[in-house]
Amino acid sequence: MRDTLTLPRPDDWHLHLRDGDMLAAVLPYTTAHFGRAVVMPNLKPPVRTGSDAASYRQRILDARPEGTDFTPLMTLYLTEQTDPADVVAAHRDGIITGVKLYPAGATTNSDAGVKDIANVMHTLSAMAEAGVPLLVHGEVTDPAVDIFDREATFIEQVLIPLRTALPELRVVFEHLTTAEGVAYVLGCRDGRVAATITPHHLMINRNALFRGGIRPHYYCLPIAKRERHRRALVDAVTSGDVRFFLGTDSAPHLDPAKESDCGCAGIFNAPNAIACVAEVFEQADAMEHLAGFISINGPTFYGLPVSRKTITLVRRPSPPHPPVMVRGLPLRVFDPEVSLSWSVQP
Ligand code: DOR
Ligand code: ZN
Repeated sequence: MRDTLTLPRPDDWHLHLRDGDMLAAVLPYTTAHFGRAVVMPNLKPPVRTGSDAASYRQRILDARPEGTDFTPLMTLYLTEQTDPADVVAAHRDGIITGVKLYPAGATTNSDAGVKDIANVMHTLSAMAEAGVPLLVHGEVTDPAVDIFDREATFIEQVLIPLRTALPELRVVFEHLTTAEGVAYVLGCRDGRVAATITPHHLMINRNALFRGGIRPHYYCLPIAKRERHRRALVDAVTSGDVRFFLGTDSAPHLDPAKESDCGCAGIFNAPNAIACVAEVFEQADAMEHLAGFISINGPTFYGLPVSRKTITLVRRPSPPHPPVMVRGLPLRVFDPEVSLSWSVQP
């Protein structure tokens, strides 16, 4: 049995860093393990233009702990008013890595998102032509659709027609949660579609939300699904298929905002994301594919170099992480409900 494992430095292909003192509090947990991260644009107000992205990028760089060389990869928040020329210029100039599609009302700070995909086809068409990836929150928002079916319905109603209309568009299906999502990605063989998967969707199923009572710290969107879906996600990532890579979707909300009458969606997992994923791969006897998932498949899809730096995992239990304090209030770290046998060597 191996007791240490050295891998190229991982990247996080889907991360919420927020802004201000929350940014300052959570960023060090990402920079401790990850070399780069795709930073989500759902601030209040959202990151809508190349100029917004450039200033947010600077605030992140300014918040980096001393001595770290973490690179934030910025995204724009797609709205029905987005200017295609601004998107293409921001991508050409290296300010943004992709554009995020939030169906309006799908999740936290998505009110300014897209109500009807028909109203953004001109922007998506310009992105397809310029090779700008579209990062998709893949859930329909029709309240008549059951919350557990919203991803599968999105594939049928939005994604399949979109890919038919714009086959050149590069698409990252973010935080995949279903067997239907895995099957869809596996069926896309042109190299233009990939998916991120979170540590929590690999580790918990929907029972975690209701174990002995209601558990707001397991509430995120897309919501965790049945065990058969979790198994499909684990099989996808541990198979070594290059279309799947790690996006933690680490999404901090202070505990009082989650433990409320109407608690926020989001799980903060930056401190133990790598330990969680290592546990999943070890349990599946697939440690040989861990580097692909956390360090290689992502940069390869985005056309970026794999990190030349390394990270070392050691077989030493990662104890439960205490809450991070922000403005004197606790921010709970994801509890995977199992012990974690690997730690990242500091
Ligand atoms: O659970 C989630 N939290 N899902 C999202 O899509 C957004 C995120 C957040 O920003 O808190
Ligand atoms: Zn997210």
